[in-house]
Amino acid sequence: MALILDGKKIAGEVRRAVAEEALTLKDGRGITPGLAVILVGDNPASQIYVRGKESACAKAGFLSRAFSLSAAATESELLAIIGGLNRDPAIHGILVQLPLPRHLRPDILIEAIDPAKDVDGLHPFNTGRLFTGNPYHTACTPSGVIELLDRYGIDMAGKDAVIVGRSNLVGKPLALMLLARNATVTMCHTKTHNLSAVTVRADILVAAAGSPGMVTGAMVKEGAVVIDVGMNRRDDGSVVGDVAFSEVARKASYITPVPGGVGPMTIAMLLRNTLNAAQRIAG
Ligand code: GUN
Repeated sequence: MALILDGKKIAGEVRRAVAEEALTLKDGRGITPGLAVILVGDNPASQIYVRGKESACAKAGFLSRAFSLSAAATESELLAIIGGLNRDPAIHGILVQLPLPRHLRPDILIEAIDPAKDVDGLHPFNTGRLFTGNPYHTACTPSGVIELLDRYGIDMAGKDAVIVGRSNLVGKPLALMLLARNATVTMCHTKTHNLSAVTVRADILVAAAGSPGMVTGAMVKEGAVVIDVGMNRRDDGSVVGDVAFSEVARKASYITPVPGGVGPMTIAMLLRNTLNAAQRIAG
């Protein structure tokens, strides 16, 4: 039976450490880390995530500023807000919550963010720095996965790591991070032939496909470490992962639960990135 990778507990530890460092920055330099979160439209999941980010900021002693725009907001309105935040010395981190309504191009908006304030790690400057092995800000969810593996002493070097899902937010940056830790990385996606023949070879298996319960026990090697990045909302409001938890837990050595696994780590990494941004701007 697998041991649980307790993201909620580890995220709490990270957040307490960040809050302490934020206090030091405030006492020493008079600087309070500030995060601006921009939400467009009324996607209920995004509203919940944004509220979580604001509440985490408040608990860490950060300033947080939320911009909630209607789904009809234009690109030029958003660019004006982002431009103002780039120039605002009280704001160290800027985040545009994804997904955006279809008429808004995420690349245009992300590229408008000052890379030093791109605490989501999605600007091409930051993805490029990760690519070349000299990371600056790195994406929060994949950073949270690496942090969780580190905190449980799970070595990645030489391991066969398989990622299911190739998003810019999770799959692609996580592949680069695991590669930097000397894992042998395989990416799978919707066009992969015979997916289970690939996943069953994984020492570390990451499910980031957005497909409830798609990773079944038969797809997992005995003793594998299984990381579930899925956050699929069911009609009754409950959240389920991409991994069929009970059958996979019988074979895995470690497994993340949903909720309480990777999700809380994402917010903890966002706070850490925002603190780092404030510290760097402070010199
Ligand atoms: N939507 C789901 N996860 C994320 C994230 O980490 N950052 C942003 N900006 N949007 C998201």
